[in-house]
Amino acid sequence: MPKVYICDPIPENGIMLLKQNGFSVDINASGKDLTHEGLKKVFGDYDAVITLLTNNVDEEIIKSSSKKLKVVSNFTVGFDNLDIKAIKARGIIACNTPGVASESVAEHTFALILALNKKLPDQDKFVRDGKYRRWDPTLFLSHQIWGQTIGVIGLGRIGTFVSQVASQGFRMKILYFDPKKAEDFELLTGAKYLSVEEILKEADIVSLHIPLTENTKHLIGKKEFKMMKNTAILINTSRGPIVDEEALVWALDEGEIAGAGMDVYEHEPEINKALLQSNKVILTPHTASGTFETREQMSRIAAQNIIDVFAGKEPLGLIKV
Ligand code: DGY
Repeated sequence: MPKVYICDPIPENGIMLLKQNGFSVDINASGKDLTHEGLKKVFGDYDAVITLLTNNVDEEIIKSSSKKLKVVSNFTVGFDNLDIKAIKARGIIACNTPGVASESVAEHTFALILALNKKLPDQDKFVRDGKYRRWDPTLFLSHQIWGQTIGVIGLGRIGTFVSQVASQGFRMKILYFDPKKAEDFELLTGAKYLSVEEILKEADIVSLHIPLTENTKHLIGKKEFKMMKNTAILINTSRGPIVDEEALVWALDEGEIAGAGMDVYEHEPEINKALLQSNKVILTPHTASGTFETREQMSRIAAQNIIDVFAGKEPLGLIKV
């Protein structure tokens, strides 16, 4: 019976699927991330491993893996925690759970935009503090996001959903950048294809939807914040290191931008102290994809990837890069 190790508890449906297909399953239920040594042990002992984004699978871990390890199935859409080159060089198959988080992350993107724009945490505190004594027409005024310009950087599935909600829901103007121009999408949404720099200069809301790679690390730093409008906000639901966090703190202090909605952080789970103290930001704990629907699909696909590899089929989540 092939043995699967799951590096953190995941929804039951994926675990059941593995068991029904004849796999034995062990799970790290310690509530803590496996250490580097712990991961090496797991990779040295199991036929398949389900990793999470908190498991940094580097070359050393891969080199210590057993000959029987066939597949690493990452319970995430993004897979920057895996050294794909090392995994492939060792003849191991790497998979992720593509396409399942787009709706959830798009929803969260708008939750951040709206909460930030309407200062919802401050309004909530105001009411709880007993300060709401009479209706005041000047209280907590914000600008409508209706008709504003959103700059979407990265037009994968998530960026596409965000743009669709923005154009069809809020009648926003869409500017986008992606390595590929998307003409059908332009026709559908009226979106305009621009460079990242042009987007930064023109957008009221800049939303990041790109993977973390060597080229995208610190894509948004001091220089880029200087290009943005002083009234603009930045939303990051992609990966933390895409934004230079020190530069973000500087940009907020200097009034280079008006605010930020952050779900991901440069040194996760550490968060820059200045951000924790700023009321110009809304912070969530990397939960943009955290819906029951998405997590269940992630669990099913992470498990099915393994089942398919052992059945000699190409798994849905095969990472091809
Ligand atoms: C992903 O899947 O890449 C998310 O960031 C974690 O749920």
